[in-house]
Amino acid sequence: MNHCVVGLQWGDEGKGKIVDILAEHSDIVVRYSGGANAGHTVIVGDTRFALHLLPSGCVRPETMCAITNGVVIDPEVLIDGIEKLAEKKLSLDGRLLVSENAHVVLDYHKIEDQLREQSLGKNKLGTTIRGIGPCYADKVGRSHAVRMADFRNLDELQAKLKSVVEYKNKVFAALYNAEPISSDTVFEKCKTYSEKLLPYITDTTEFLHQSIKENKSILFEGAQGALLDLDHGTFPFVTSSNSSSLGMSAGCGVPAKFVDEFIGVVKAYTTRVGAGPFPVEQDNDIGQYIRDKGNEYGTTTGRPRRCGWFDAVAVSYSATICAIDSVAMLHLDTLSGLKELNICRAYMMNGEEKTFFPANIARLAQARPVYTTVPGWGEDITEIKEFQDLPANARNYIQRVEELIGKPITIIGVGPRRDQTIFREKSELK
Ligand code: GDP
Ligand code: IMO
Ligand code: MG
Repeated sequence: MNHCVVGLQWGDEGKGKIVDILAEHSDIVVRYSGGANAGHTVIVGDTRFALHLLPSGCVRPETMCAITNGVVIDPEVLIDGIEKLAEKKLSLDGRLLVSENAHVVLDYHKIEDQLREQSLGKNKLGTTIRGIGPCYADKVGRSHAVRMADFRNLDELQAKLKSVVEYKNKVFAALYNAEPISSDTVFEKCKTYSEKLLPYITDTTEFLHQSIKENKSILFEGAQGALLDLDHGTFPFVTSSNSSSLGMSAGCGVPAKFVDEFIGVVKAYTTRVGAGPFPVEQDNDIGQYIRDKGNEYGTTTGRPRRCGWFDAVAVSYSATICAIDSVAMLHLDTLSGLKELNICRAYMMNGEEKTFFPANIARLAQARPVYTTVPGWGEDITEIKEFQDLPANARNYIQRVEELIGKPITIIGVGPRRDQTIFREKSELK
């Protein structure tokens, strides 16, 4: 069986935890899009891993890991990830494959990301400053792109970097009055990257199709969330890749028909990092309660996450474009203690109730959430193992959300650990 796990909100839904759990029954875990803007948390016993580029299956010593064409790779972050795992006796030798066709994030991409954000002032996008946008822009532009395969021929890479850095310096000086950077410095770093990463660089598309022929079980791990998708999210407050499940096929060369189940991950409420519209945001005591209780601070940047109620309009949309079969809802425990809970069931727009999410932000700005209010529960649910043992109001909350999004919720998170997960045999919708 092949599965694809994808976030259905604005990222940080808990994909890392779900991938880690499902990886127990997978031979291969694949990261297919995004870059080190992602921060996926996996907790194994007392150890907490914050993974930025490595697939979350990497913490299981038997699992093969692939980083495919659609990912933009910051070699520094990748090497750091490999070395940190090795320190924990989790070697990736012989079980990590990195696509030769994946694009490389270099220093000048991160500098450009920062300069651009600074220059935008209050209109900034709130990116992670990981060089994601500039690297994808170079990929689409083609002429100034560096790919992992370029680490195989250092002479050619040196010449290419000379002209690319010369061009970047002209742009940085003209647009931002910034100091030039040295192509020699960039190249020296690339020599180290090449030395350390060459053993992993290969054709991941061939590997995946061979694995499919051998009936291996593959788990595709999405990064970010569908509402941050470049084409289908809340543009321009999105990331620079197709972070919905629509990006999976292009990102790894495996058509969606090879995936048996698409699993959407949501939180029991909504969070967002960075700028952009967020109709259900609670910039008040409720939002602060969720932030404190759910420890809602970014895994990659440490920024406080914006918090709000569950938005069934947004999630129905994401689940539709991602062809979701079932949903994992995490952080149910975080809602314990709130007297009443709101679920956004529609948007009021120009005097009419709408249930189809308007991804266009000018229209989204007009949307006023229409809430269904349900009673909360006071009990601590963090050690509950079975659905029927949850407080009646918690079960009711899950069932109400299921009805509104039209998808079965089959996995429920009641805490960050692996064993704080409830698997539900059947929901009314399945
Ligand atoms: P990802 O980017 O989608 O992998 O999510 P992150 O790792 O950035 O953020 C999710 C956070 O929630 C991490 O700190 C997880 O350890 C934590 N987490 C995951 N599931 C649960 C849950 O059910 N309850 C609580 N309280 N925390 C959870
Ligand atoms: P994971 O995989 C949450 C957000 C940034 C910013 C916007 C653009 O951990 O869910 P970028 O650096 O990509 O150009 O920033 O996208 N963003 C994320 N938010 N989780 C993520 O990843 C994110 N990756 C990017 O905060 O608003
Ligand atoms: Mg994250």
